Parts: sequence; structure tokens; C-alpha cells
Amino acid sequence: MTKQTIITLPGDGIGPEVTTAAVTVLKAACSSFGTEIETIERPFGGAGYDRDGEPVTQETLELCKQHKFVLLGAVGGPKWDDLSAEKRPEAALLKLRKELGVYANLRPIRVHPSLAGASTLKKEVITETDILIMRELTGGIYFGRPRTNGAGNGDPYSLDTMSYSRSEVQRISRKAFEAARLRDKRVCSVDKANVLESSRLWRKSVEEVAAEYPDVELTHMLVDNCAMQLIRNPKQFDVMVTGNLFGDILSDEAAMLTGSIGMLPSASLGDGNGLYEPVHGSAPDIAGKGEANPLAAVASAALLCRYSLDMEEAANNIETAIHAVLDAGYRTPDIYSEEPGTTLAGTKEMEQKLLEYLTVPAT
Ligand code: IPM
Ligand code: MG
Repeated sequence: MTKQTIITLPGDGIGPEVTTAAVTVLKAACSSFGTEIETIERPFGGAGYDRDGEPVTQETLELCKQHKFVLLGAVGGPKWDDLSAEKRPEAALLKLRKELGVYANLRPIRVHPSLAGASTLKKEVITETDILIMRELTGGIYFGRPRTNGAGNGDPYSLDTMSYSRSEVQRISRKAFEAARLRDKRVCSVDKANVLESSRLWRKSVEEVAAEYPDVELTHMLVDNCAMQLIRNPKQFDVMVTGNLFGDILSDEAAMLTGSIGMLPSASLGDGNGLYEPVHGSAPDIAGKGEANPLAAVASAALLCRYSLDMEEAANNIETAIHAVLDAGYRTPDIYSEEPGTTLAGTKEMEQKLLEYLTVPAT
């Protein structure tokens, strides 16, 4: 058996519950294809702060860089909301993304046929939706300098900076065009070029890259219109490429097309590193109750197999198991609707069912 080490950062709230499920399924799937997964776990986010007085230690960051592949749960919660900016759980996540250099955040939005009824949108609007959001993850207003607070002569002000360089835009654009080549060969770049300088440079830079991909169609859309188009006619999109802040907002919106944000996985790639995390947050209201939906975390583990471990079969295996569990009618509360043939299930039960449905490869 080949051995592979993964760093797990379960984090806060429902993070530990869903990460446990993801690791169990990942280990089972990989071992049936001859790879043994070894995990090293570290506290992260609020849990990291509680233990070490900081949301992520240098030691943890070094460990992640050394082993390259990280599976993360979720961070944050009301308990840590009043901490200073650099002590907040979210700061750990941003630091980790930046240090790993994972600038390309892939958020695939696919509507599972048996869940079409779980979305708040009409079935005919969302069925067959299949979008890949390519969000720039290590630049833009999340990291732009200067970033300050000022006294402002009795009228305090704060300043964030939205900045992009041509090379930053072009490397994420290339990822989008490469991904589109394996799909429907269409890229929609989303910006606010009617107002922002950084968006005008974004648009120009994407266009330059597009010239290298004559087989892929490029369109542009303003972010406000995109927010509307996503719920008006989501089927029009194939690959969407956008900046850090717009991608953050649009991906939460797009998640609801799938019925629940509890369904949405993500992969963040760059510099040979891979960070895998469900898009949902720590959901402190349901933490510890055993009812969290583990499917986004499990689907993130499938992406880890695909993009970092080069184990496409294991990835397909996990994704098939997710479909089988949903087809068999098992639903956590977030995706449950009283349809005939559905069964309300907790996190553990979903994990158990996933293990049952992992198809054993022919030897
Ligand atoms: C996400 C989250 C994070 C972000 C937060 C937790 C910092 O919302 O991954 O979408 O804004 O990127
Ligand atoms: Mg977000």
C-alpha cells in the first residue's frame, strides 16, 4: 500500500463532526485503491485560539506546507466574535490560504436530481445546473494594502483596498480556461468594470488570456447582473471566473441552487498545494447535535482525491456513494422535505450509509 499523509483541521462548530465523516469515507475509498491515508490533526480557528491563544500557530502552518494537502472543517462562532481581527478564527483561514498559495478556489455547483425539490427555487429553473465557480482566493480586497482604521477628526473611518495585478488575474484566468476545456468550453468572467478600476484591469487581463484559448468562448458579466442571472437562469453558466469578494458572495448564492449550502464542496489549489473545505460555515446552532450534513465535507474529500492525490477512481467512488445515499432517500435536516421515500438521518447515519455505498473496485 502507498502511504499518504493529510493534515486535518476540523476547526469549530460542526467542523469536527463533518471532518470525521469525510476522513472515514476518504480512508475507506483510498484503501480500496491501494493507498493508506494517514492523518495529522491540529486545532484551528476558534479551537486553535482556545488552546494556543492564536487561531493558527506557525507550527501548524509549517506542517500544512510540508505535507501539502489539507482537509479543513469550518471556522468561527459567536464565542470568538469579539476578538481582534488577527485573533479571529477567520484570520487563520486567510493566513493558511495565503501561506499555501492556493489562489484558485474551485466551487462546483451541481444540482442533484433527487434534491431539486429541496431548493427554494422552482425545479425547472435549477435542474441540470452545472456551474464551476473559479474564485480568486489570495488577492483582491481580502488582502489588499493599505488596510487601516483612522480617527478622522472625530469621524472614524476604515479603509480596505481592492487591488489586482495582471499576473494575479491571468493565472486564475488560465485555470478557468483549462477547466472549461474539460467541460462546455465557456467562461464567464464576472466583475464590476462599469465602476471599479481593478475590474477594468481584470477584464482586460482575462481577454489577453482568452486569446490563448480560441476554442473557449469568453463572456463578461457585471456582478450585480450575475447575482440576478444566477437565480433567473443558472443553466446559462459553465465556468465562472471572478475575484475574491465577488466569488465569496456569488458562491453562497449559487449554493442555494443545490438545495443547501451543506452540499457544496471546494478545492483551493496553487503551488502544488491543495486545501479542501466545505463552503458552509461552522453552524454553531446545530454543533454537537449530530445532525450536520457531512456531504459537502465528504465531497471535498473526493476533490482531494481528484486534484491532489491523482486518484480519480477514488474520487468517482465517493461521488457515486453520495449520489446513492441521496437516491436512497437519506436526508439530513437541511435537505429534508417530507417527500415520500425520504428518511431523516443524522451525520453518523449518513457516514454509515456512504461507507455501505462505496463500490468496491474489481480486483
Ligand atoms: C468562504 C468563507 C470565508 C471567506 C470566511 C470564513 C473567511 O465565507 O470560504 O467562503 O470569506 O472566504
Ligand atoms: Mg463565503
